[in-house]
Parts: sequence; C-alpha cells; structure tokens
Amino acid sequence: MVEGTLGQLAYRGYSIEDLAIRSSFLETAYLLIWGDLPNAEALGTFSEEVKSHRRIKFRIRDMMKCFPESGHPMDALQASAAALGLFYSRRALDDPTYIRAAAIRLLAKIPTMVAAFQLIRKGHDPIQPRDDLSYAANFLYMLTEQEPDPLAARIFDACLILHAEHSLNASTFSALVTASTLTDPYAVVASAVGTLAGPLHGGANEDVLDMLDTIGSVENVGPYLDRCMAEKKRIMGFGHRVYKVKDPRAAILQSLAEQLFDRFGSDASYDLARVVEEQAADRFGARGIYPNVDFYSGLVYRKLGIPQDLFTPIFAIARVAGWLAHWKEQLGANRIFRPSQVYVGHRLRPWQPIEARP
Ligand code: CMC
Repeated sequence: MVEGTLGQLAYRGYSIEDLAIRSSFLETAYLLIWGDLPNAEALGTFSEEVKSHRRIKFRIRDMMKCFPESGHPMDALQASAAALGLFYSRRALDDPTYIRAAAIRLLAKIPTMVAAFQLIRKGHDPIQPRDDLSYAANFLYMLTEQEPDPLAARIFDACLILHAEHSLNASTFSALVTASTLTDPYAVVASAVGTLAGPLHGGANEDVLDMLDTIGSVENVGPYLDRCMAEKKRIMGFGHRVYKVKDPRAAILQSLAEQLFDRFGSDASYDLARVVEEQAADRFGARGIYPNVDFYSGLVYRKLGIPQDLFTPIFAIARVAGWLAHWKEQLGANRIFRPSQVYVGHRLRPWQPIEARP
C-alpha cells in the first residue's frame, strides 16, 4: 500500500518503518510472496532453503567470464537471470511446489550472480557463498571477499527491505506483462531487470552521486538548482509519480546513512546532499518534488564500499521479492496483457512501387 500524499508505505499491512527496523530481508520477502509474516519454524525452513540454493552452476560462472569487463553489471545480471531458465526446466505454473522452488532459487542466486560478475571483472574467481552468514552479510562477503562488520550487514539488510516492493512501478509492470504470457519465472525476472536498469527508475541512485560530484560544494547548490529549473533538467533522486511529499524510504535511508557515518566516519557528499534537499524544497517543494528512495541510498552504498555501478543490481536483488510476489499473484488470476493503442498514423492508402516513392 502506497499513500503518496501522506508519504506512507506498507507491505501487506506492515509499515515500512516497522519492517526496516524489526524485520529481516528474508522475512520481508516471505511476507511479500506468501502474504503473511512467517512463524519461527517457517522462517527457519525458508532461510535454510534459500541458503542451500545460493551456489550457481559452474557453466553460469563460465558464461559470465565471457562477458566484457566493461559491460554494465545490470546487463550481466539480466543475461545471467535469463540463463537460469536454461538450467531449470519449466514446470506447470499451477504447481505451488514449483512456484516456491523457483522463488527460492531466484532469491538465492541473484545476489551470487551480482557478486560473481564483480569479482570476475576484477580478474578474480568468484568465491563460494558462506552458509554461516546471513543473506545480507553473505552478499557483502561474496562481493568484497571480507566478512562485513555486523552494523554494515544490518544496514545493508534494511536497504534491501526498503527496496523490496513498490506496487506497480515500471519494472514490476514489465514483470507482470512477461508473466501474463505464462513464460518461465527467469524470463519474468530478466525482463524486470532490463526495465529497472534505466536512469528514470533504478539507475537514478548512480546518477545522484555524479550530480553531487558535479555540484562539488555548498556554494554551488543554489546556482545548480536554478540552472536545473531554467533548463528543465531533472534533479536526480527527486520526484516520484506517486509521492508528492518526501518518500518515507528516503527518510529511513537518511537515518541509516547517519548511523553509518557516525560509526565509520563522515562523508562530505552527505552534507552536500542535505543542503541540496533543503534548497530544492524551496524551489520544487510546491510542485510536490521531494527526495525519493534513490537520493540517499547511493551514499549508504558508497560508505559500505560498494562500487557505484552495482547500486542498481543491488536494487534488483531486493526488488526480486516484489517481482515474485506480483508474479505469483498474476498466476492466480491470469489474463494476458494486451493494451490497445490510439492509432494516429495513416489510414489505408494505395501501394507505391519503389520507383514511384519520393
Ligand atoms: N527534477 C526536476 N523536475 C522534475 C523532477 C526532478 N527530479 N521530477 C519531475 N519534475 C518535473 C518535470 O520536469 C515536470 O515538469 P513540467 O510539468 O513543468 O514539465 C513535472 O515535474 C512532472 O514530471 P513527470 O516526468 O511528468 O513526472 P513523473 O511522475 O512522470 O516522473 C520520475 C517521475 C521519477 C520519472 C521523475 O520525477 C524523475 O525523472 N526523477 C528523476 C529520476 C529519479 O530520481 N528516478 C528515481 C525514481 S524513484 C525509484 C524508482 O522508481 O526506481
């Protein structure tokens, strides 16, 4: 549930604030996909199942080794997610056991594939997941080859919760369109990853850091924002189709960023970001343009030592939960999406031989 004018977000009735503080990403994923919070036994079984599917086939690793190092990790992820369909054959989409197995496989393997591409492009062999680490800690470990600090892992887990679901955003819509053809779940997730990659959707958090670097200092904030207004240029990490007030996820991310900076040292870009937020409110606030989820997430990820072009793949790791929840729901009452279009082109006209064409 998203209440854009009140700045409220809840997943299946639980407020995003409660979930970010009290839940874990896996518990939240379970809630999204199966509709209710799991009890201890259900969560235990689910977590163990996800753990046992974290490894990826060596052929997928070998395939990723053939990807160009300069390629964007979102493209690598889209190709790898689609490739899962080659290895896990499609079964009846009305079989709950298959639905559960596919959901678990995707939740488990997507982080491993993101981390594997990162190590491969650095010239390293991907490392195996560690069963003694939580979902978030294991991802950071596979990415950096070092066991993360517990606070860093906890904050990263909260970031995944915040990005897990957001109703019918562009990538979820794309997932639903693909799902409605009754294709396999790997194709559903691959199409959603491709949609998430764009700068108006998941790609914006990468651009926020570039924007802050371009602004450079507090004195430049006002002139930069004025230029954006005059040239109708977008401030990245601002504005939302649904929220007309500050995105509640941005407020939570800001407090997570502050916890990180308190513990691991401050970041000048964060001070700059706060000035941008303050001064943008004077210029854009009346039009309902406020920070969205992407505005502070990049600063958190950078402090966690994550390379900038992995920010959107991390968004994808989280959003897989939401995509799967919508996929499962779509299968429950499916009808293929086939929108009609208002045609504004030529009406019927006489065929022209090629020599007669202008
Ligand atoms: N900076 C400056 N002006 C803006 C911005 C912005 N970030 N966002 C919207 N506007 C203006 C826009 O120029 C337009 O003005 P006018 O009516 O004078 O032409 C008006 O607001 C309405 O814009 P719109 O494009 O119709 O609004 P939308 O609801 O279709 O766009 C958006 C939503 C997220 C695509 C847009 O706000 C945007 O481009 N933001 C920057 C990119 C960004 O931060 N994306 C992350 C979105 S949240 C996470 C996610 O979805 O992945």
